[in-house]
Amino acid sequence: MQTELSKKLGVEHAVFGFTPFPAVAAAISRAGGFGVLGAVRYTAPDDLKRDLDWIEAHVDGQPYGLDVVMPAKKVEGVSEADVEAMIPEGHRQFVKDTLAKHGVPELAEGEASGWRITGWMEQVARTQLDVAFDYPIKLLANALGSPPADVIARAHDRGVLVAALAGSARHARKHSEAGIDIVVAQGYEAGGHTGEIASMVLTPEVVDAVDPLPVLAAGGIGSGRQVAAALALGAQGVWLGSIWLTTTEADMHSPALTRKLLAAGSGDTVRSRALTGKPARQLRTEWTDAWDDPEGPGTLPMPLQGLLVAEAVSRIQKYKVEPLLGTPVGQIVGRMTSERSVQAVFDDLTRGFEQAVDRINRIAGRSGQ
Ligand SMILES: Cc1cc2nc3c(=O)[nH]c(=O)nc-3n(C[C@H](O)[C@H](O)[C@H](O)COP(=O)(O)O)c2cc1C
Repeated sequence: MQTELSKKLGVEHAVFGFTPFPAVAAAISRAGGFGVLGAVRYTAPDDLKRDLDWIEAHVDGQPYGLDVVMPAKKVEGVSEADVEAMIPEGHRQFVKDTLAKHGVPELAEGEASGWRITGWMEQVARTQLDVAFDYPIKLLANALGSPPADVIARAHDRGVLVAALAGSARHARKHSEAGIDIVVAQGYEAGGHTGEIASMVLTPEVVDAVDPLPVLAAGGIGSGRQVAAALALGAQGVWLGSIWLTTTEADMHSPALTRKLLAAGSGDTVRSRALTGKPARQLRTEWTDAWDDPEGPGTLPMPLQGLLVAEAVSRIQKYKVEPLLGTPVGQIVGRMTSERSVQAVFDDLTRGFEQAVDRINRIAGRSGQ
């Protein structure tokens, strides 16, 4: 599965893997793909340093990248305390009531909520970059918009390619005008923040909109057939996020959550604002149902919602309260039915890709079989 882009980056397969887990990122790169570590949860630079050191030690010299979240709309100059003060009391009460209804225990005295909004703040993303640029990363991706011009220039000075996610051709064009190198066209099916256009429609639209920039297709890809389809639509590679969540290298902290993912069908996700205030596809749970209930107070805009639910999410995860336990994941969850190693996922992708290409060749009468 080689394309111009995979050759440029020196990887065997044009398969890019987004993951919050260093062990998965390293395994993707070792398997011949391109591992990209999600940095949003690293609010302490030393933690990111530790994990990049780990990747360096385990990636066997293969290339990898980093993904940051710099929102197009900045929340600079606003502290968490300022944001806290904007949260209506009724919403706080709703969180308390929902947790009480499910008997979710409190965190221990002094125990910090593990999940903060600060990872979405540009100044925090910049501290992540200060760390990351000391490592030989080959790609910098940004989730919620084009990175600022100075960040793009800094990356380019170091020979680092810059990618940005786009959910529409309009966004993709903006990225192209900003001077990035790769557009990740992320469809509605994808896990995490998504737009409203499905990959089948989005990929060729974005390919045409930013030509000749390379495009990676994201959203709903979990088999070699789907990789072949994405390349047929004009993509120079694929960008997968959900599929890695049930790999043996993923550190999900909760066998209960892994079990839920393995049992979920493709209709068991929802695009909800419950997690961050922006629509993000995730496992449908009683928690997302509560926020999407017209009888409830509804969600708050980003970044208020993220701050409002941060502690609740930590409590749900810590105490593994199954009906509320969820994670961002895309519709491909329906095909994630067993725990496999990252290498096994790659073997499956490459085999399935070859079979799909053979099939198309036969249909086109080209293979001589
Ligand atoms: C658990 C999870 C967390 C994600 N977090 C981010 C993120 O922090 N930054 C980002 O650019 N994309 C994030 N995404 C989206 C992925 O980068 C990717 O575009 C998406 O997963 C592709 O679609 P798929 O889930 O169908 O494979 C996340 C996806 C998942 C499943």
